[in-house]
Formats: sequence, structure tokens, C-alpha cells
Amino acid sequence: MTRDGGATQARPLARQAMLVQSVGAGRPSRSRVLAAHLTASWRAGTRAPASGAGAPEIRGGELGGAGPRVERERPGTGDASAPRPRLPRYVSGLARAVVRATRRLARRMLPDGARRRLGALWRGREYLPPAGCVRFGDLRRLTPISRKWGKDRGKLPVDRYYIETFLTRHAHDIGGRVLEVQDASYTRRFGGNRVTRSDVLHAAPGNAQATIVADLVSAPHIASDTFDCIILTQVLPFIQDVPSAIRTIHRILRPGGVVLATVPGISQIVRHDMERWGDYWRFTTLSARQLFARVFPTSSVQVEAYGNVLVATAFLHGLAAEELRPAELEHHDADFELLITIRATKPAVEILVASDGGRP
Ligand SMILES: C[S@@+](CC[C@H](N)C(=O)[O-])C[C@H]1O[C@@H](n2cnc3c(N)ncnc32)[C@H](O)[C@@H]1O
Repeated sequence: MTRDGGATQARPLARQAMLVQSVGAGRPSRSRVLAAHLTASWRAGTRAPASGAGAPEIRGGELGGAGPRVERERPGTGDASAPRPRLPRYVSGLARAVVRATRRLARRMLPDGARRRLGALWRGREYLPPAGCVRFGDLRRLTPISRKWGKDRGKLPVDRYYIETFLTRHAHDIGGRVLEVQDASYTRRFGGNRVTRSDVLHAAPGNAQATIVADLVSAPHIASDTFDCIILTQVLPFIQDVPSAIRTIHRILRPGGVVLATVPGISQIVRHDMERWGDYWRFTTLSARQLFARVFPTSSVQVEAYGNVLVATAFLHGLAAEELRPAELEHHDADFELLITIRATKPAVEILVASDGGRP
């Protein structure tokens, strides 16, 4: 049987079985469901003529009551009133016996963990390993698989996957005069020909790409109202006085200008930056929102988080985005904020922002 053929044939049969058991009183046992499934298979394979002459019949109640709903779902039977074939009792009894015997065998032969896994699968539930039964596999180690976020595996770091998703979504903001920190790679990649002038800020001299050397905590030499867009990806954790840096960002943005910032929630220390300027902070959506809402109007601050326990574990181990499935990367659990993104707009006309940080 081909894969496709198997799937398309099995589905209606399974559905028939479900329907047969769903109209029964109470919760049917597994063996009853199996028996119902066998009934459906048997009926599909040995369909009696519509007249039903000599054909066995399923009576209402035999498998929990075959009402009109089941009747309508029988594929290929034009006549709903036609007598239906009946599964011999010994077959359903046999099915129940097989299930019981398999269970007994599994209890005796299978290790505890495997039995629990099978049990969860059988019940259609997620397997939760009890204490002492977690399989750590390759992750049972005291050092990460990579300390370079997977870059040494030739891949895209998980946080960069989310940063790039965020910048793609807001690429239309990246235009006019744009400031980025360290280099202009995101300005070029996401701003394209919308960018009329590109600047690069670096905290210390020696970066050939830098057009501005400045500490964002206090940068009086950068004129106010200068930039249409500031790309501030993964910079704030390395600045001890974050509120002052955000005030500078707000000051040097033009009215109507936008800052696109990202900060880590769950992350290892960035050793390179720790040794140069210090790695001070990890953030949450709450702290990020409050920090920006101290300076920007609350309504102009959009904060989002990306991540879940699996991608956070992978990220801490230095696995790359390509090592996870798209659905795993796109599942976001509010309790596992791996990366936080902030988009804030400086009002076109000056607005005084409340000093309580926009707390609700
Ligand atoms: C991890 S890099 C992030 C750079 C880049 N935006 C990115 O997405 O990878 C951290 C940057 O923070 C900058 N930085 C650290 N302290 C700073 C400060 N007080 N003012 C301005 N920039 C600072 C450094 O120039 C450094 O390039």
C-alpha cells in the first residue's frame, strides 16, 4: 500500500470508528474503540449488497447505538435504511483480549520510561517524564555545545533569527538618515534604497566603520533631532545607565523618528562585550516597556517577546536556528522571553511624558 493510499483509506475508517463510539453511553474502553474500528474496516472491506440479503447487521446499541449521525457518515452507502452488517461478537471479544494481553506483556517487558511514553501516546497526551526519568541525551553536559551561538556551526544564531524577523516586519521604518551601532549591516539589508544617509556609532575609537564615537549615556556632540531611524539591536544590556541612554536615543531622533531596539531576555553572558564595556542586564517585556515609556509616549511603545523553553534551551547550548523546526521557532511562550523587541516613535510634536514610566 502506498503512503498516500494508506492515509486516505485509513482516515474515513478511523472516523467511522470514532463516530460509532462517540454515540455510545459513557466513555468506551480502548478495546471497544478497537472493536468499533475493526467493525468499520470489516464493513468497508466486505460491504454487503444494498438489499442486505444475508448480510450481518449492526443493531443500535450493539456498539453503543448506531444512530442517524453514523448512518450519514457511512461512505458509499446510498440507502440509509439498508440493513447493516454486524460484526460477530467473537471478533470484538478477541480484540479486547488482544489489547489486554498486549498491556500485560508491555507491563512485564518494557522499561518504565518506555511504558509511560507508550501510555501517553495511546491516550494522545503529551509525555511528561517523572522525576529521574528525563533523558538529557547530548545536552547532559556542563559546557554548551557552542559558546558562539552556533556561528561556529556555520549557522544563524536563534536570537538573530528573531531580530531579523522583527527588522523584516518593520523594514518600512528604516529609511532617511539611519543610525546603527557597531556596523551598518542591518541598515543596508533592511533599509535598502530608502536610506539617504547611514551612520555607525561605536562606543570606543578604533572601529573603521564608525562615523560617530559616543557613549549613549551622554553624547552632547550628537545633535538633537538628527535621525529618522535608530537601529539599536543588542546594545542596551552593555550600558550600565540604560535610562540615560534611552533619553539620548529619544533626543537625537527627529520628531516622527523611530527606534527599533532589541534586548535579550534569556541569554548567556556575551564575553567579548563583558570584557570591553560590561554586560549588565537581561530584560523582560515589562522592564523594556517601562524603560521606554519613561521617555516615549506609552501609546507609541510596542514591545513583543519571542521564544519558548525549547528554543531557550537550544540557544543556551549554542544551537543554531536551522537546528530547530519552523513551528518550534514560531511558538511563543510568555514565560520564556528569549528576545524582546521594542519599536518606539518620537512624537511629531513635543509631548510631555509622565515621570511614572507610563505605568498603568
Ligand atoms: C553586541 S554589540 C551589538 C552590536 C550590533 N548592533 C548587533 O546587533 O550586533 C554591543 C555594542 O554595544 C555598544 N556599546 C556598548 N556600550 C555602549 C555605550 N555606553 N554607548 C554606546 N554603545 C555602546 C558597543 O559599541 C558594541 O558594538
